[in-house]
Amino acid sequence: MKIECDVRPNRMFAPQLVGLVSSIDKKGRPNVATLTWITTVSVDPPLISISVGRTRYTHECISSSKEFVLNLPTMDILKEVMLAGSSSGWEGDKFEKTGLTPVESIAVKAPCVKQCATHLECKVIDMKEAGDHTIFIGKVVATMCNLEAIKDGVLDISRIKPVLHLGGTFFTTVGEIVDSREI
Ligand SMILES: Cc1cc2nc3c(=O)[nH]c(=O)nc-3n(C[C@H](O)[C@H](O)[C@H](O)COP(=O)(O)O)c2cc1C
Repeated sequence: MKIECDVRPNRMFAPQLVGLVSSIDKKGRPNVATLTWITTVSVDPPLISISVGRTRYTHECISSSKEFVLNLPTMDILKEVMLAGSSSGWEGDKFEKTGLTPVESIAVKAPCVKQCATHLECKVIDMKEAGDHTIFIGKVVATMCNLEAIKDGVLDISRIKPVLHLGGTFFTTVGEIVDSREI
C-alpha cells in the first residue's frame, strides 16, 4: 500500500555523496564548504554540476572566480565536513576553522583540500538560477586522487570510505558491494 507522505523532496534523495567545494574570493583567499547537491552531467566534454545557495560565501567566490574544486572527503574527516557545512566563509577563514589544508591545484587557482581522497578541478562554463540556488556547471580541467584509491587504473571505492549524507546530522558510507553480473 502507498501512503501520501509529507517528506521534503530533498530528503527523498538519500544517501547522497558529500563533497567539499573549495574556491577563492576576489582577494584570492580560499574558502571551503560542504555540498551534496553535486552530480556528473556529461562525459564528453567532462562536465559536473553543483547547486549552491545564493547566500553562501561559496556562491560569491565561484560567481567572481568562475572556478572551483570538488573534493571528495572520507569518513575520517566527518567532523571537519560538518564544520565546513555549518559555518560560513562570510565569518572568517574556514580552512583555519576546520583545520583542513589548502594545497595548490594543477589547473585552477582554487586550492584542493589535502585531506580528501579525490579532486576535480573545474572551470565554470555555465550557470543556471534554480529557485534559491544557482547551478554551476563546471568543465573538469584536471583530476587528482590519492594513490591508495586507485586499483588497475580506476577508482576503487572499496579502498576509501566516501561520506554519504542521509539527512540532518546522519551519515553512512559504502558497505557491501554487489556485482550485478553475479546475481
Ligand atoms: C551535509 C551537508 C550538505 C550540504 N549541501 C549543500 C548543498 O548542496 N548546497 C548548498 O548550497 N549548501 C549545502 N550545505 C550547506 C552549506 O555547506 C553551508 O550553508 C555552509 O555554511 C556554506 O558555507 P559558505 O558560506 O562558506 O559557502 C550543506 C551542508 C551540509 C552539512
